[in-house]
Amino acid sequence: MKKQKSHKNPLFSKFQTDSPEAIEFRRIFSKIQSLNNSQQIKNVMISSATAGEGKSTISTLLAITCSRYGNGKTLLIDSDLRRPQIHKILKIEKETGLADILRGKIQPLEAIKNTDIKNLKVITAGNSNGSATRLLKVNKIKSVFTELQWVFETIIIDTPPIVPVNDSLIINLVADTTLLVIKAGKTQREIVKRAIDLIQDAGVKNLNLLVNNLNNVLPYYYGYKYYK
Ligand SMILES: Nc1ncnc2c1ncn2[C@@H]1O[C@H](COP(=O)(O)OP(=O)(O)OP(=O)(O)O)[C@@H](O)[C@H]1O
Ligand SMILES: [Mg+2]
Repeated sequence: MKKQKSHKNPLFSKFQTDSPEAIEFRRIFSKIQSLNNSQQIKNVMISSATAGEGKSTISTLLAITCSRYGNGKTLLIDSDLRRPQIHKILKIEKETGLADILRGKIQPLEAIKNTDIKNLKVITAGNSNGSATRLLKVNKIKSVFTELQWVFETIIIDTPPIVPVNDSLIINLVADTTLLVIKAGKTQREIVKRAIDLIQDAGVKNLNLLVNNLNNVLPYYYGYKYYK
């Protein structure tokens, strides 16, 4: 297992346990637990119809929340081989990662990196050399997850957007829960509907919608300023 040191990141300083953001994510975490009808959340895929809706940010914050309040180890996987972000958010190296596992260069357990956050491990995207479509094969993905599930209680999977590329529909096959992030005030209804149709056609088990950016669209929604 590689030892990686992450640096202080403003995203995390705003994510103290009693911050409004952290409280909201704790709610999302509890909701996923109740939707799964158990205290255990297994593979959660974070998806969206189009680019830039907040998948990577939400994946990271949800993974931190799972590592804080879950019952065991949490793994965050960057499966966006085309425009990976998780390594940038956590300020760790992109290599070696999922692309290298899929290429057969390393074993899944060898790609796991430590973070500064207790109980949170990461598999970064690695270097796909522009071969994402060729690397993301159903059988290979299934065998990678089978191996990782022995070690981790929860696996949070960041993915590319659904409508432009097919990658996340392959990842979808190993997800127990899919969160479709919708950026409020930005994503058009027809595009969201198209993404939902594609996910459902791919045989989704448990699809849930998560609205991001509500604060900017409905300024009084949270009311935190009123209380704090
Ligand atoms: N609720 C939010 N409030 C403010 N900024 C946000 C919020 N959610 C995400 N962002 C910002 O929006 C940008 C895009 O977010 P992010 O990279 O998480 O989206 P993404 O869906 O993963 O994008 P891509 O499809 O390119 O992978 C980032 O700069 C992120 O910091
Ligand atoms: Mg992203």
